[in-house]
Amino acid sequence: MRRSRQAERREKPAAKRRTGRKPTPLSAELAASWYEGKEFAHDWTSWHFPNWTKLLGSRRNRALRVLEIGSWEGRSALFFLNYLPRATLTCIDTFAGGQEHQEVAARSRTDARFLRGVEGRFDRNTKAFKKRIEKIKAPSTDALAELGIRNRRFDLAYIDGGHRAVEAYADGALTWPLMTRGGLLLFDDYEWKEMPKPLDNPGSGIDAFLKSIAGQYRLVHKGYQVAIEKL
Ligand SMILES: C[S@@+](CC[C@H](N)C(=O)[O-])C[C@H]1O[C@@H](n2cnc3c(N)ncnc32)[C@H](O)[C@@H]1O
Repeated sequence: MRRSRQAERREKPAAKRRTGRKPTPLSAELAASWYEGKEFAHDWTSWHFPNWTKLLGSRRNRALRVLEIGSWEGRSALFFLNYLPRATLTCIDTFAGGQEHQEVAARSRTDARFLRGVEGRFDRNTKAFKKRIEKIKAPSTDALAELGIRNRRFDLAYIDGGHRAVEAYADGALTWPLMTRGGLLLFDDYEWKEMPKPLDNPGSGIDAFLKSIAGQYRLVHKGYQVAIEKL
């Protein structure tokens, strides 16, 4: 028998509650406005926004504690701060660049000067969010271990720091105990293969990390990026 409209109306909110709020689409104009007047030399990031809004849409209005490893000039940080208006963000970066940036800087003075300017650009780009950002300038292994010692916890983590397999593995392994149950951990560059030696790319480190936590997570997305939810 067909259910009455009234019964259907009663059921819809329950279904919504289970899946969270429907992701609000992010317009290109709105996203562009977050970056207006800011200083950026690179954009490795905005092509992920459609997928990030799908992954994060249902969590958008929560006071999430977000951890970012690898901030560079602040482009991904500005996404999290704008798209998640109640979130706080902890950014870990040496601001010295990864292996690939340091190799380029070693060959050219212009690139070396450019690399020295990254931290200043991050500071200027994110200064409007000072109250919601915690900046930790340190190698990620030290910074993550210290966050663990201080018993800090995070609901969302974005790992986009060192690209060598050992770095991706270590960042995953040290971040995992900091994640809350239901927390989302997102790796960038799973399919990045720019470096000639396989172990200088992150993929095998991410695979080994995922293997080490088998049974402790639900795979939410696997493509150029990998997203997992902690069980
Ligand atoms: C690809 S960039 C991050 C891009 C940024 N997430 C964005 O979307 O704009 C990688 C960053 O990781 C940082 N990094 C590399 N190795 C690191 C390490 N071992 N500890 C902390 N930061 C590191 C680099 O300084 C660089 O700023």
